[in-house]
Amino acid sequence: MAQEGRKKITLPYLFDKVAKKEPITWLTCYDYPTAYLQEQAGIEMILVGDSLGMTMLGFDSTLPVTMADMIRHASAVRRGAPTAFVVGDMPYMSYQPSVEDAIRNAGRFMAEAGCDAIKLEGGAAMADRIAGIVDAGIPAIGHLGLTPQSVSALGGFKVQGKDARLAKKILDDAKILEEAGACMILLEMVPDRLCKMITERAENCIILSLGSGPDAHGQLLIYHDMFGLYPKFKPKMAKVFGNAGEVILNGLKTYHDEVIARQFPQPENWFGMKDEQFAELEKLVAEDDACDCGCCDDDDCDCDCDCCKKD
Ligand code: KIV
Repeated sequence: MAQEGRKKITLPYLFDKVAKKEPITWLTCYDYPTAYLQEQAGIEMILVGDSLGMTMLGFDSTLPVTMADMIRHASAVRRGAPTAFVVGDMPYMSYQPSVEDAIRNAGRFMAEAGCDAIKLEGGAAMADRIAGIVDAGIPAIGHLGLTPQSVSALGGFKVQGKDARLAKKILDDAKILEEAGACMILLEMVPDRLCKMITERAENCIILSLGSGPDAHGQLLIYHDMFGLYPKFKPKMAKVFGNAGEVILNGLKTYHDEVIARQFPQPENWFGMKDEQFAELEKLVAEDDACDCGCCDDDDCDCDCDCCKKD
């Protein structure tokens, strides 16, 4: 259900916010009820991230995530958040093999899941994918810095661009992606001053920060990190805004204990039926149970019909 009074969030709306120097809010989301809450909270952008492979499916990386997974989750999010700007995250090997693959799979996010844009990881090497997707009429978002699909090549989940040469490469990649047509670029875990420099140099591109400091045009956080819902680790940059994980765990323990102690369910938790209907039910059952084969009156009866089975 749409947030009351909110119009659909569009690219012009987001560029307008940047022009007015108002920060953009962006969160990950993978399911209908959470999308509903994010919509009601006024979150402007939602990323259906391939991080769902870790946060929702329990894999150790994002690599096993498929297009089918992404479409299923993205369409659920779209149903929960009708006015948010929903971004579909292109999973591993859905765009790396070729420009054609990239365009076809980006199109699936738009046509099958109702997304507003797609995001893909990588710098200059992915510029032709961005250009192809944009030429197909699909808004494309770049992703630089820590790019989880390349975590093995990057040597782990760590800050990228701390040394000047790598920082310069990220800066150059950002310009190349912008020139290829990217409408936005996410900078994940790069130093704050690098993020500021890239943001100041962006001409027609919205820069978003995940753990990259306050100077981007907007902020992204992983929803599960914000609410203590991912048990394996909490990245340093994530602020916990509420411990939903703890609340849910306590509720689950209470449910377990109440069932064992026969405190749950209570009458308000079940449904009854009228006395006369129950009496009728008992009558119907008794009729069914009654033996009407006529051969069982004899104690020595050894027929094998069901109603005559004797202990
Ligand atoms: O999949 C995802 O959630 C992402 C974020 C880590 C930026 O790409």
